[in-house]
Amino acid sequence: MLVTGAGGQLGAALCEAFAGGELVALTRAQWDVTLPPPPGLAGAALVLHAAAWTDVDGAEADPQAAAAVNVGGTQHAAELGAPLVAFSTDYVFDGRCRRPYVESDGPAPLSAYGRTKLLGEAAAGERAWIVRSSWLFGWVGTNFVRTMLRLGSEREEVAVVDDQRGCPTYVGHLAAAVHELVGGGLPGGLWHLAAAGDCTWAELAEAIFEEAGIDCRVRRITTAELGRPAPRPAYSVLRSERRGAPQLPHWREGLRACLERL
Ligand SMILES: NC(=O)c1ccc[n+]([C@@H]2O[C@H](COP(=O)([O-])OP(=O)(O)OC[C@H]3O[C@@H](n4cnc5c(N)ncnc54)[C@H](OP(=O)(O)O)[C@@H]3O)[C@@H](O)[C@H]2O)c1
Repeated sequence: MLVTGAGGQLGAALCEAFAGGELVALTRAQWDVTLPPPPGLAGAALVLHAAAWTDVDGAEADPQAAAAVNVGGTQHAAELGAPLVAFSTDYVFDGRCRRPYVESDGPAPLSAYGRTKLLGEAAAGERAWIVRSSWLFGWVGTNFVRTMLRLGSEREEVAVVDDQRGCPTYVGHLAAAVHELVGGGLPGGLWHLAAAGDCTWAELAEAIFEEAGIDCRVRRITTAELGRPAPRPAYSVLRSERRGAPQLPHWREGLRACLERL
């Protein structure tokens, strides 16, 4: 089995969840996925393709570089010819829905990042498992939980967006669900796999401070006040409508599991 993007937060969790088998963990140094696969990777039983351009605002400034990774890189992973799991995002939706998005809902990405991820889904091919998840956090790399822990210990108050609602998903729980998906013989195609429950970023920040025992106030602001370059969906709760879909624990349980590792 090959794991691309093994140095990232999901890649690290996949390496743990699939550790029972023979696994080759590939960081960017071992395979820059914008280039064709290096010789020697052919014949894999499974490719878990977690390498991606995940800088949402950066993609707005350099959409071609983001596409080279998210579209070209996924195409290269598919060229290996092995069963493939590709990862996508809630940011393929525009957020106008007021009930959870399911697999049959039409995508309409608002940002360059979302557009490259949607094109990446197509590049994965028809037989691939395409796993859409959201608001990932884990024990490596940069993510909202780790940023809030740092800011919360430095400041008395943090300003956090309260008009975007989604499902914060712990990478450990997502990786276990992917293991269930692939190991359970479930068919390919789109799968929405995200934590149970939903919240805003401000509610998540409050939960982080509460669980970690940090004394820091959360000032609720709007997306417009924050003024980030890339537009984001106001509502991107994901649920699966597919029979046998793995169910993830509640995001708050994921938060506790993550904090135990930090
Ligand atoms: N993060 C989220 O909130 C979120 C939400 C929904 C879906 N997703 C999707 O979930 C997947 C995993 O995301 P993540 O949160 O684990 O991201 P991450 O922590 O940023 O990890 C991505 C990994 O890909 C690597 N990478 C970037 N460009 C590469 C290239 N050209 N060749 C090889 N490797 C490259 C990065 O290496 P460097 O560290 O060297 O850059 C990093 O190790 C992605 O498909 C992402 O779109 C993420």
